[in-house]
Amino acid sequence: MSRNMLKGTDKRTDKPFKLSIDRGTYVADGAYVRTDGLRKIKRTDSDFGLLGYDPAYLNTASCKSAITYIDGEEGILRYRGYPIEQLAEQSTYLEVAYLLIRGTLPTRDQLDEFSERVNSQTSVSEDVLSFIRGFPVGGHTMGMLVGALGALSVFCDDVRDFATEEAQDRHICRLMGHVATLGAAVHRHSAGLSHVPPDPDLGFCGNLLNMLFGEVDPVLAHALEVLLILHADHEQNCSTSTMRAIASGGADPYSAMAGAAAALYGPAHGGANEAVLKMLNEVGSVDKVADYIDRVVAEKELRLQGFGHRVYSNYDPRAKIIKRVAYEVFEVTGKNPLIDIALELERVALQNDYFVSYNLYPNVDFYSGIIYQAMGLPVRMMTVLFAVGRSCGWLAQWRELLGDSEQKIARPRQIYTGEDVRDYVALDQR
Ligand code: CMC
Repeated sequence: MSRNMLKGTDKRTDKPFKLSIDRGTYVADGAYVRTDGLRKIKRTDSDFGLLGYDPAYLNTASCKSAITYIDGEEGILRYRGYPIEQLAEQSTYLEVAYLLIRGTLPTRDQLDEFSERVNSQTSVSEDVLSFIRGFPVGGHTMGMLVGALGALSVFCDDVRDFATEEAQDRHICRLMGHVATLGAAVHRHSAGLSHVPPDPDLGFCGNLLNMLFGEVDPVLAHALEVLLILHADHEQNCSTSTMRAIASGGADPYSAMAGAAAALYGPAHGGANEAVLKMLNEVGSVDKVADYIDRVVAEKELRLQGFGHRVYSNYDPRAKIIKRVAYEVFEVTGKNPLIDIALELERVALQNDYFVSYNLYPNVDFYSGIIYQAMGLPVRMMTVLFAVGRSCGWLAQWRELLGDSEQKIARPRQIYTGEDVRDYVALDQR
């Protein structure tokens, strides 16, 4: 008899139950039970059966995925099996995007063809650019990006045709190219600057920098490659799950990506880089760091932004790499003085019992905002750059979802806590 079985007795009825235990394909994935098996454990034949209750999905897998692997306890992150450290050191953003989307590292010819397709898609129609010009100057660029991504589903006339791999490729390359241009366009518009048209010959990151600032520095272009690689995918986080949930209902990838970007916006997720900069300014100087850490420990609602993670109970491997990138950027831009406050916050927090006991370490967003600010971007642009990098991960996950025969429309259950049935009372009798 198989030993991969969870067996027990439902003490409400004294009836036995068994649930089969499956294993992930990769040994460290651990074992899992299908929670729909709980439905067979019933008090009576007609009752609903047991339901799994897991607010915020703390312990529920919503899909099987072959894209990104995280071991949160060991601080390991791999894309398609390749360690993030090797990719950040040796690869380029478009190579990583190809890897995430197609599953293998590209050959030179494959990379050239993919790069040509994505870079040529940085040309965005005048209609979309004038849509962005309808937003108020000085407005928040993340809201503009969400709106512009949603608008693409109206301005592109083939958005509902994504059944074939060929059509999916078309949308993937267009969205990756367009999101870079939209990210730059919302910055230029919000800052009251004129639009800089794309120049695909500059390469993806060179082109993006040029559209943002009107010039390209090779050191900054390399730093941007690394930052976008680090943000490219992170398995089933809030925004990626949103992308999958929206797409599971059959919506086009442009609408799904608008939803994903909206999910990224919040300070607990991709908006943390913006929140970190606000926090560092609030702390103000290195000598105030110890007091600030004491406040975070004492005041439950105050969090050390850029610290902690749902999955990592160790140092986020991306934060280690980002810290190094910061100094490469400062060689060109001059030092962002906020780095000294950040380093001191990290030093003091990592010696504090509260942070030690909760396993709270710096995450990817602790240092990324400092770098983007040194490059010359305003705080409101921090999460936009995160979204540009994450676009290829969202699209890789979208394609995986479409090819997964186990997936259906995402539809969680609830535990109803409201009133039992009651009769309507006429307005004049209440
Ligand atoms: N500062 C102080 N306390 C914290 C922090 C923090 N940054 N993070 C978690 N805690 C405490 C929290 O108060 C809670 O304590 P208690 O159990 O006594 O109520 C405990 O640790 C567990 O926190 P949680 O909110 O239940 O954990 P979670 O897994 O739901 O939250 C998190 C993860 C990232 C939202 C949270 O750590 C946080 O708010 N961090 C600051 C925001 C941030 O940096 N977000 C970016 C995440 S990385 C980028 C990305 O991939 O999205």
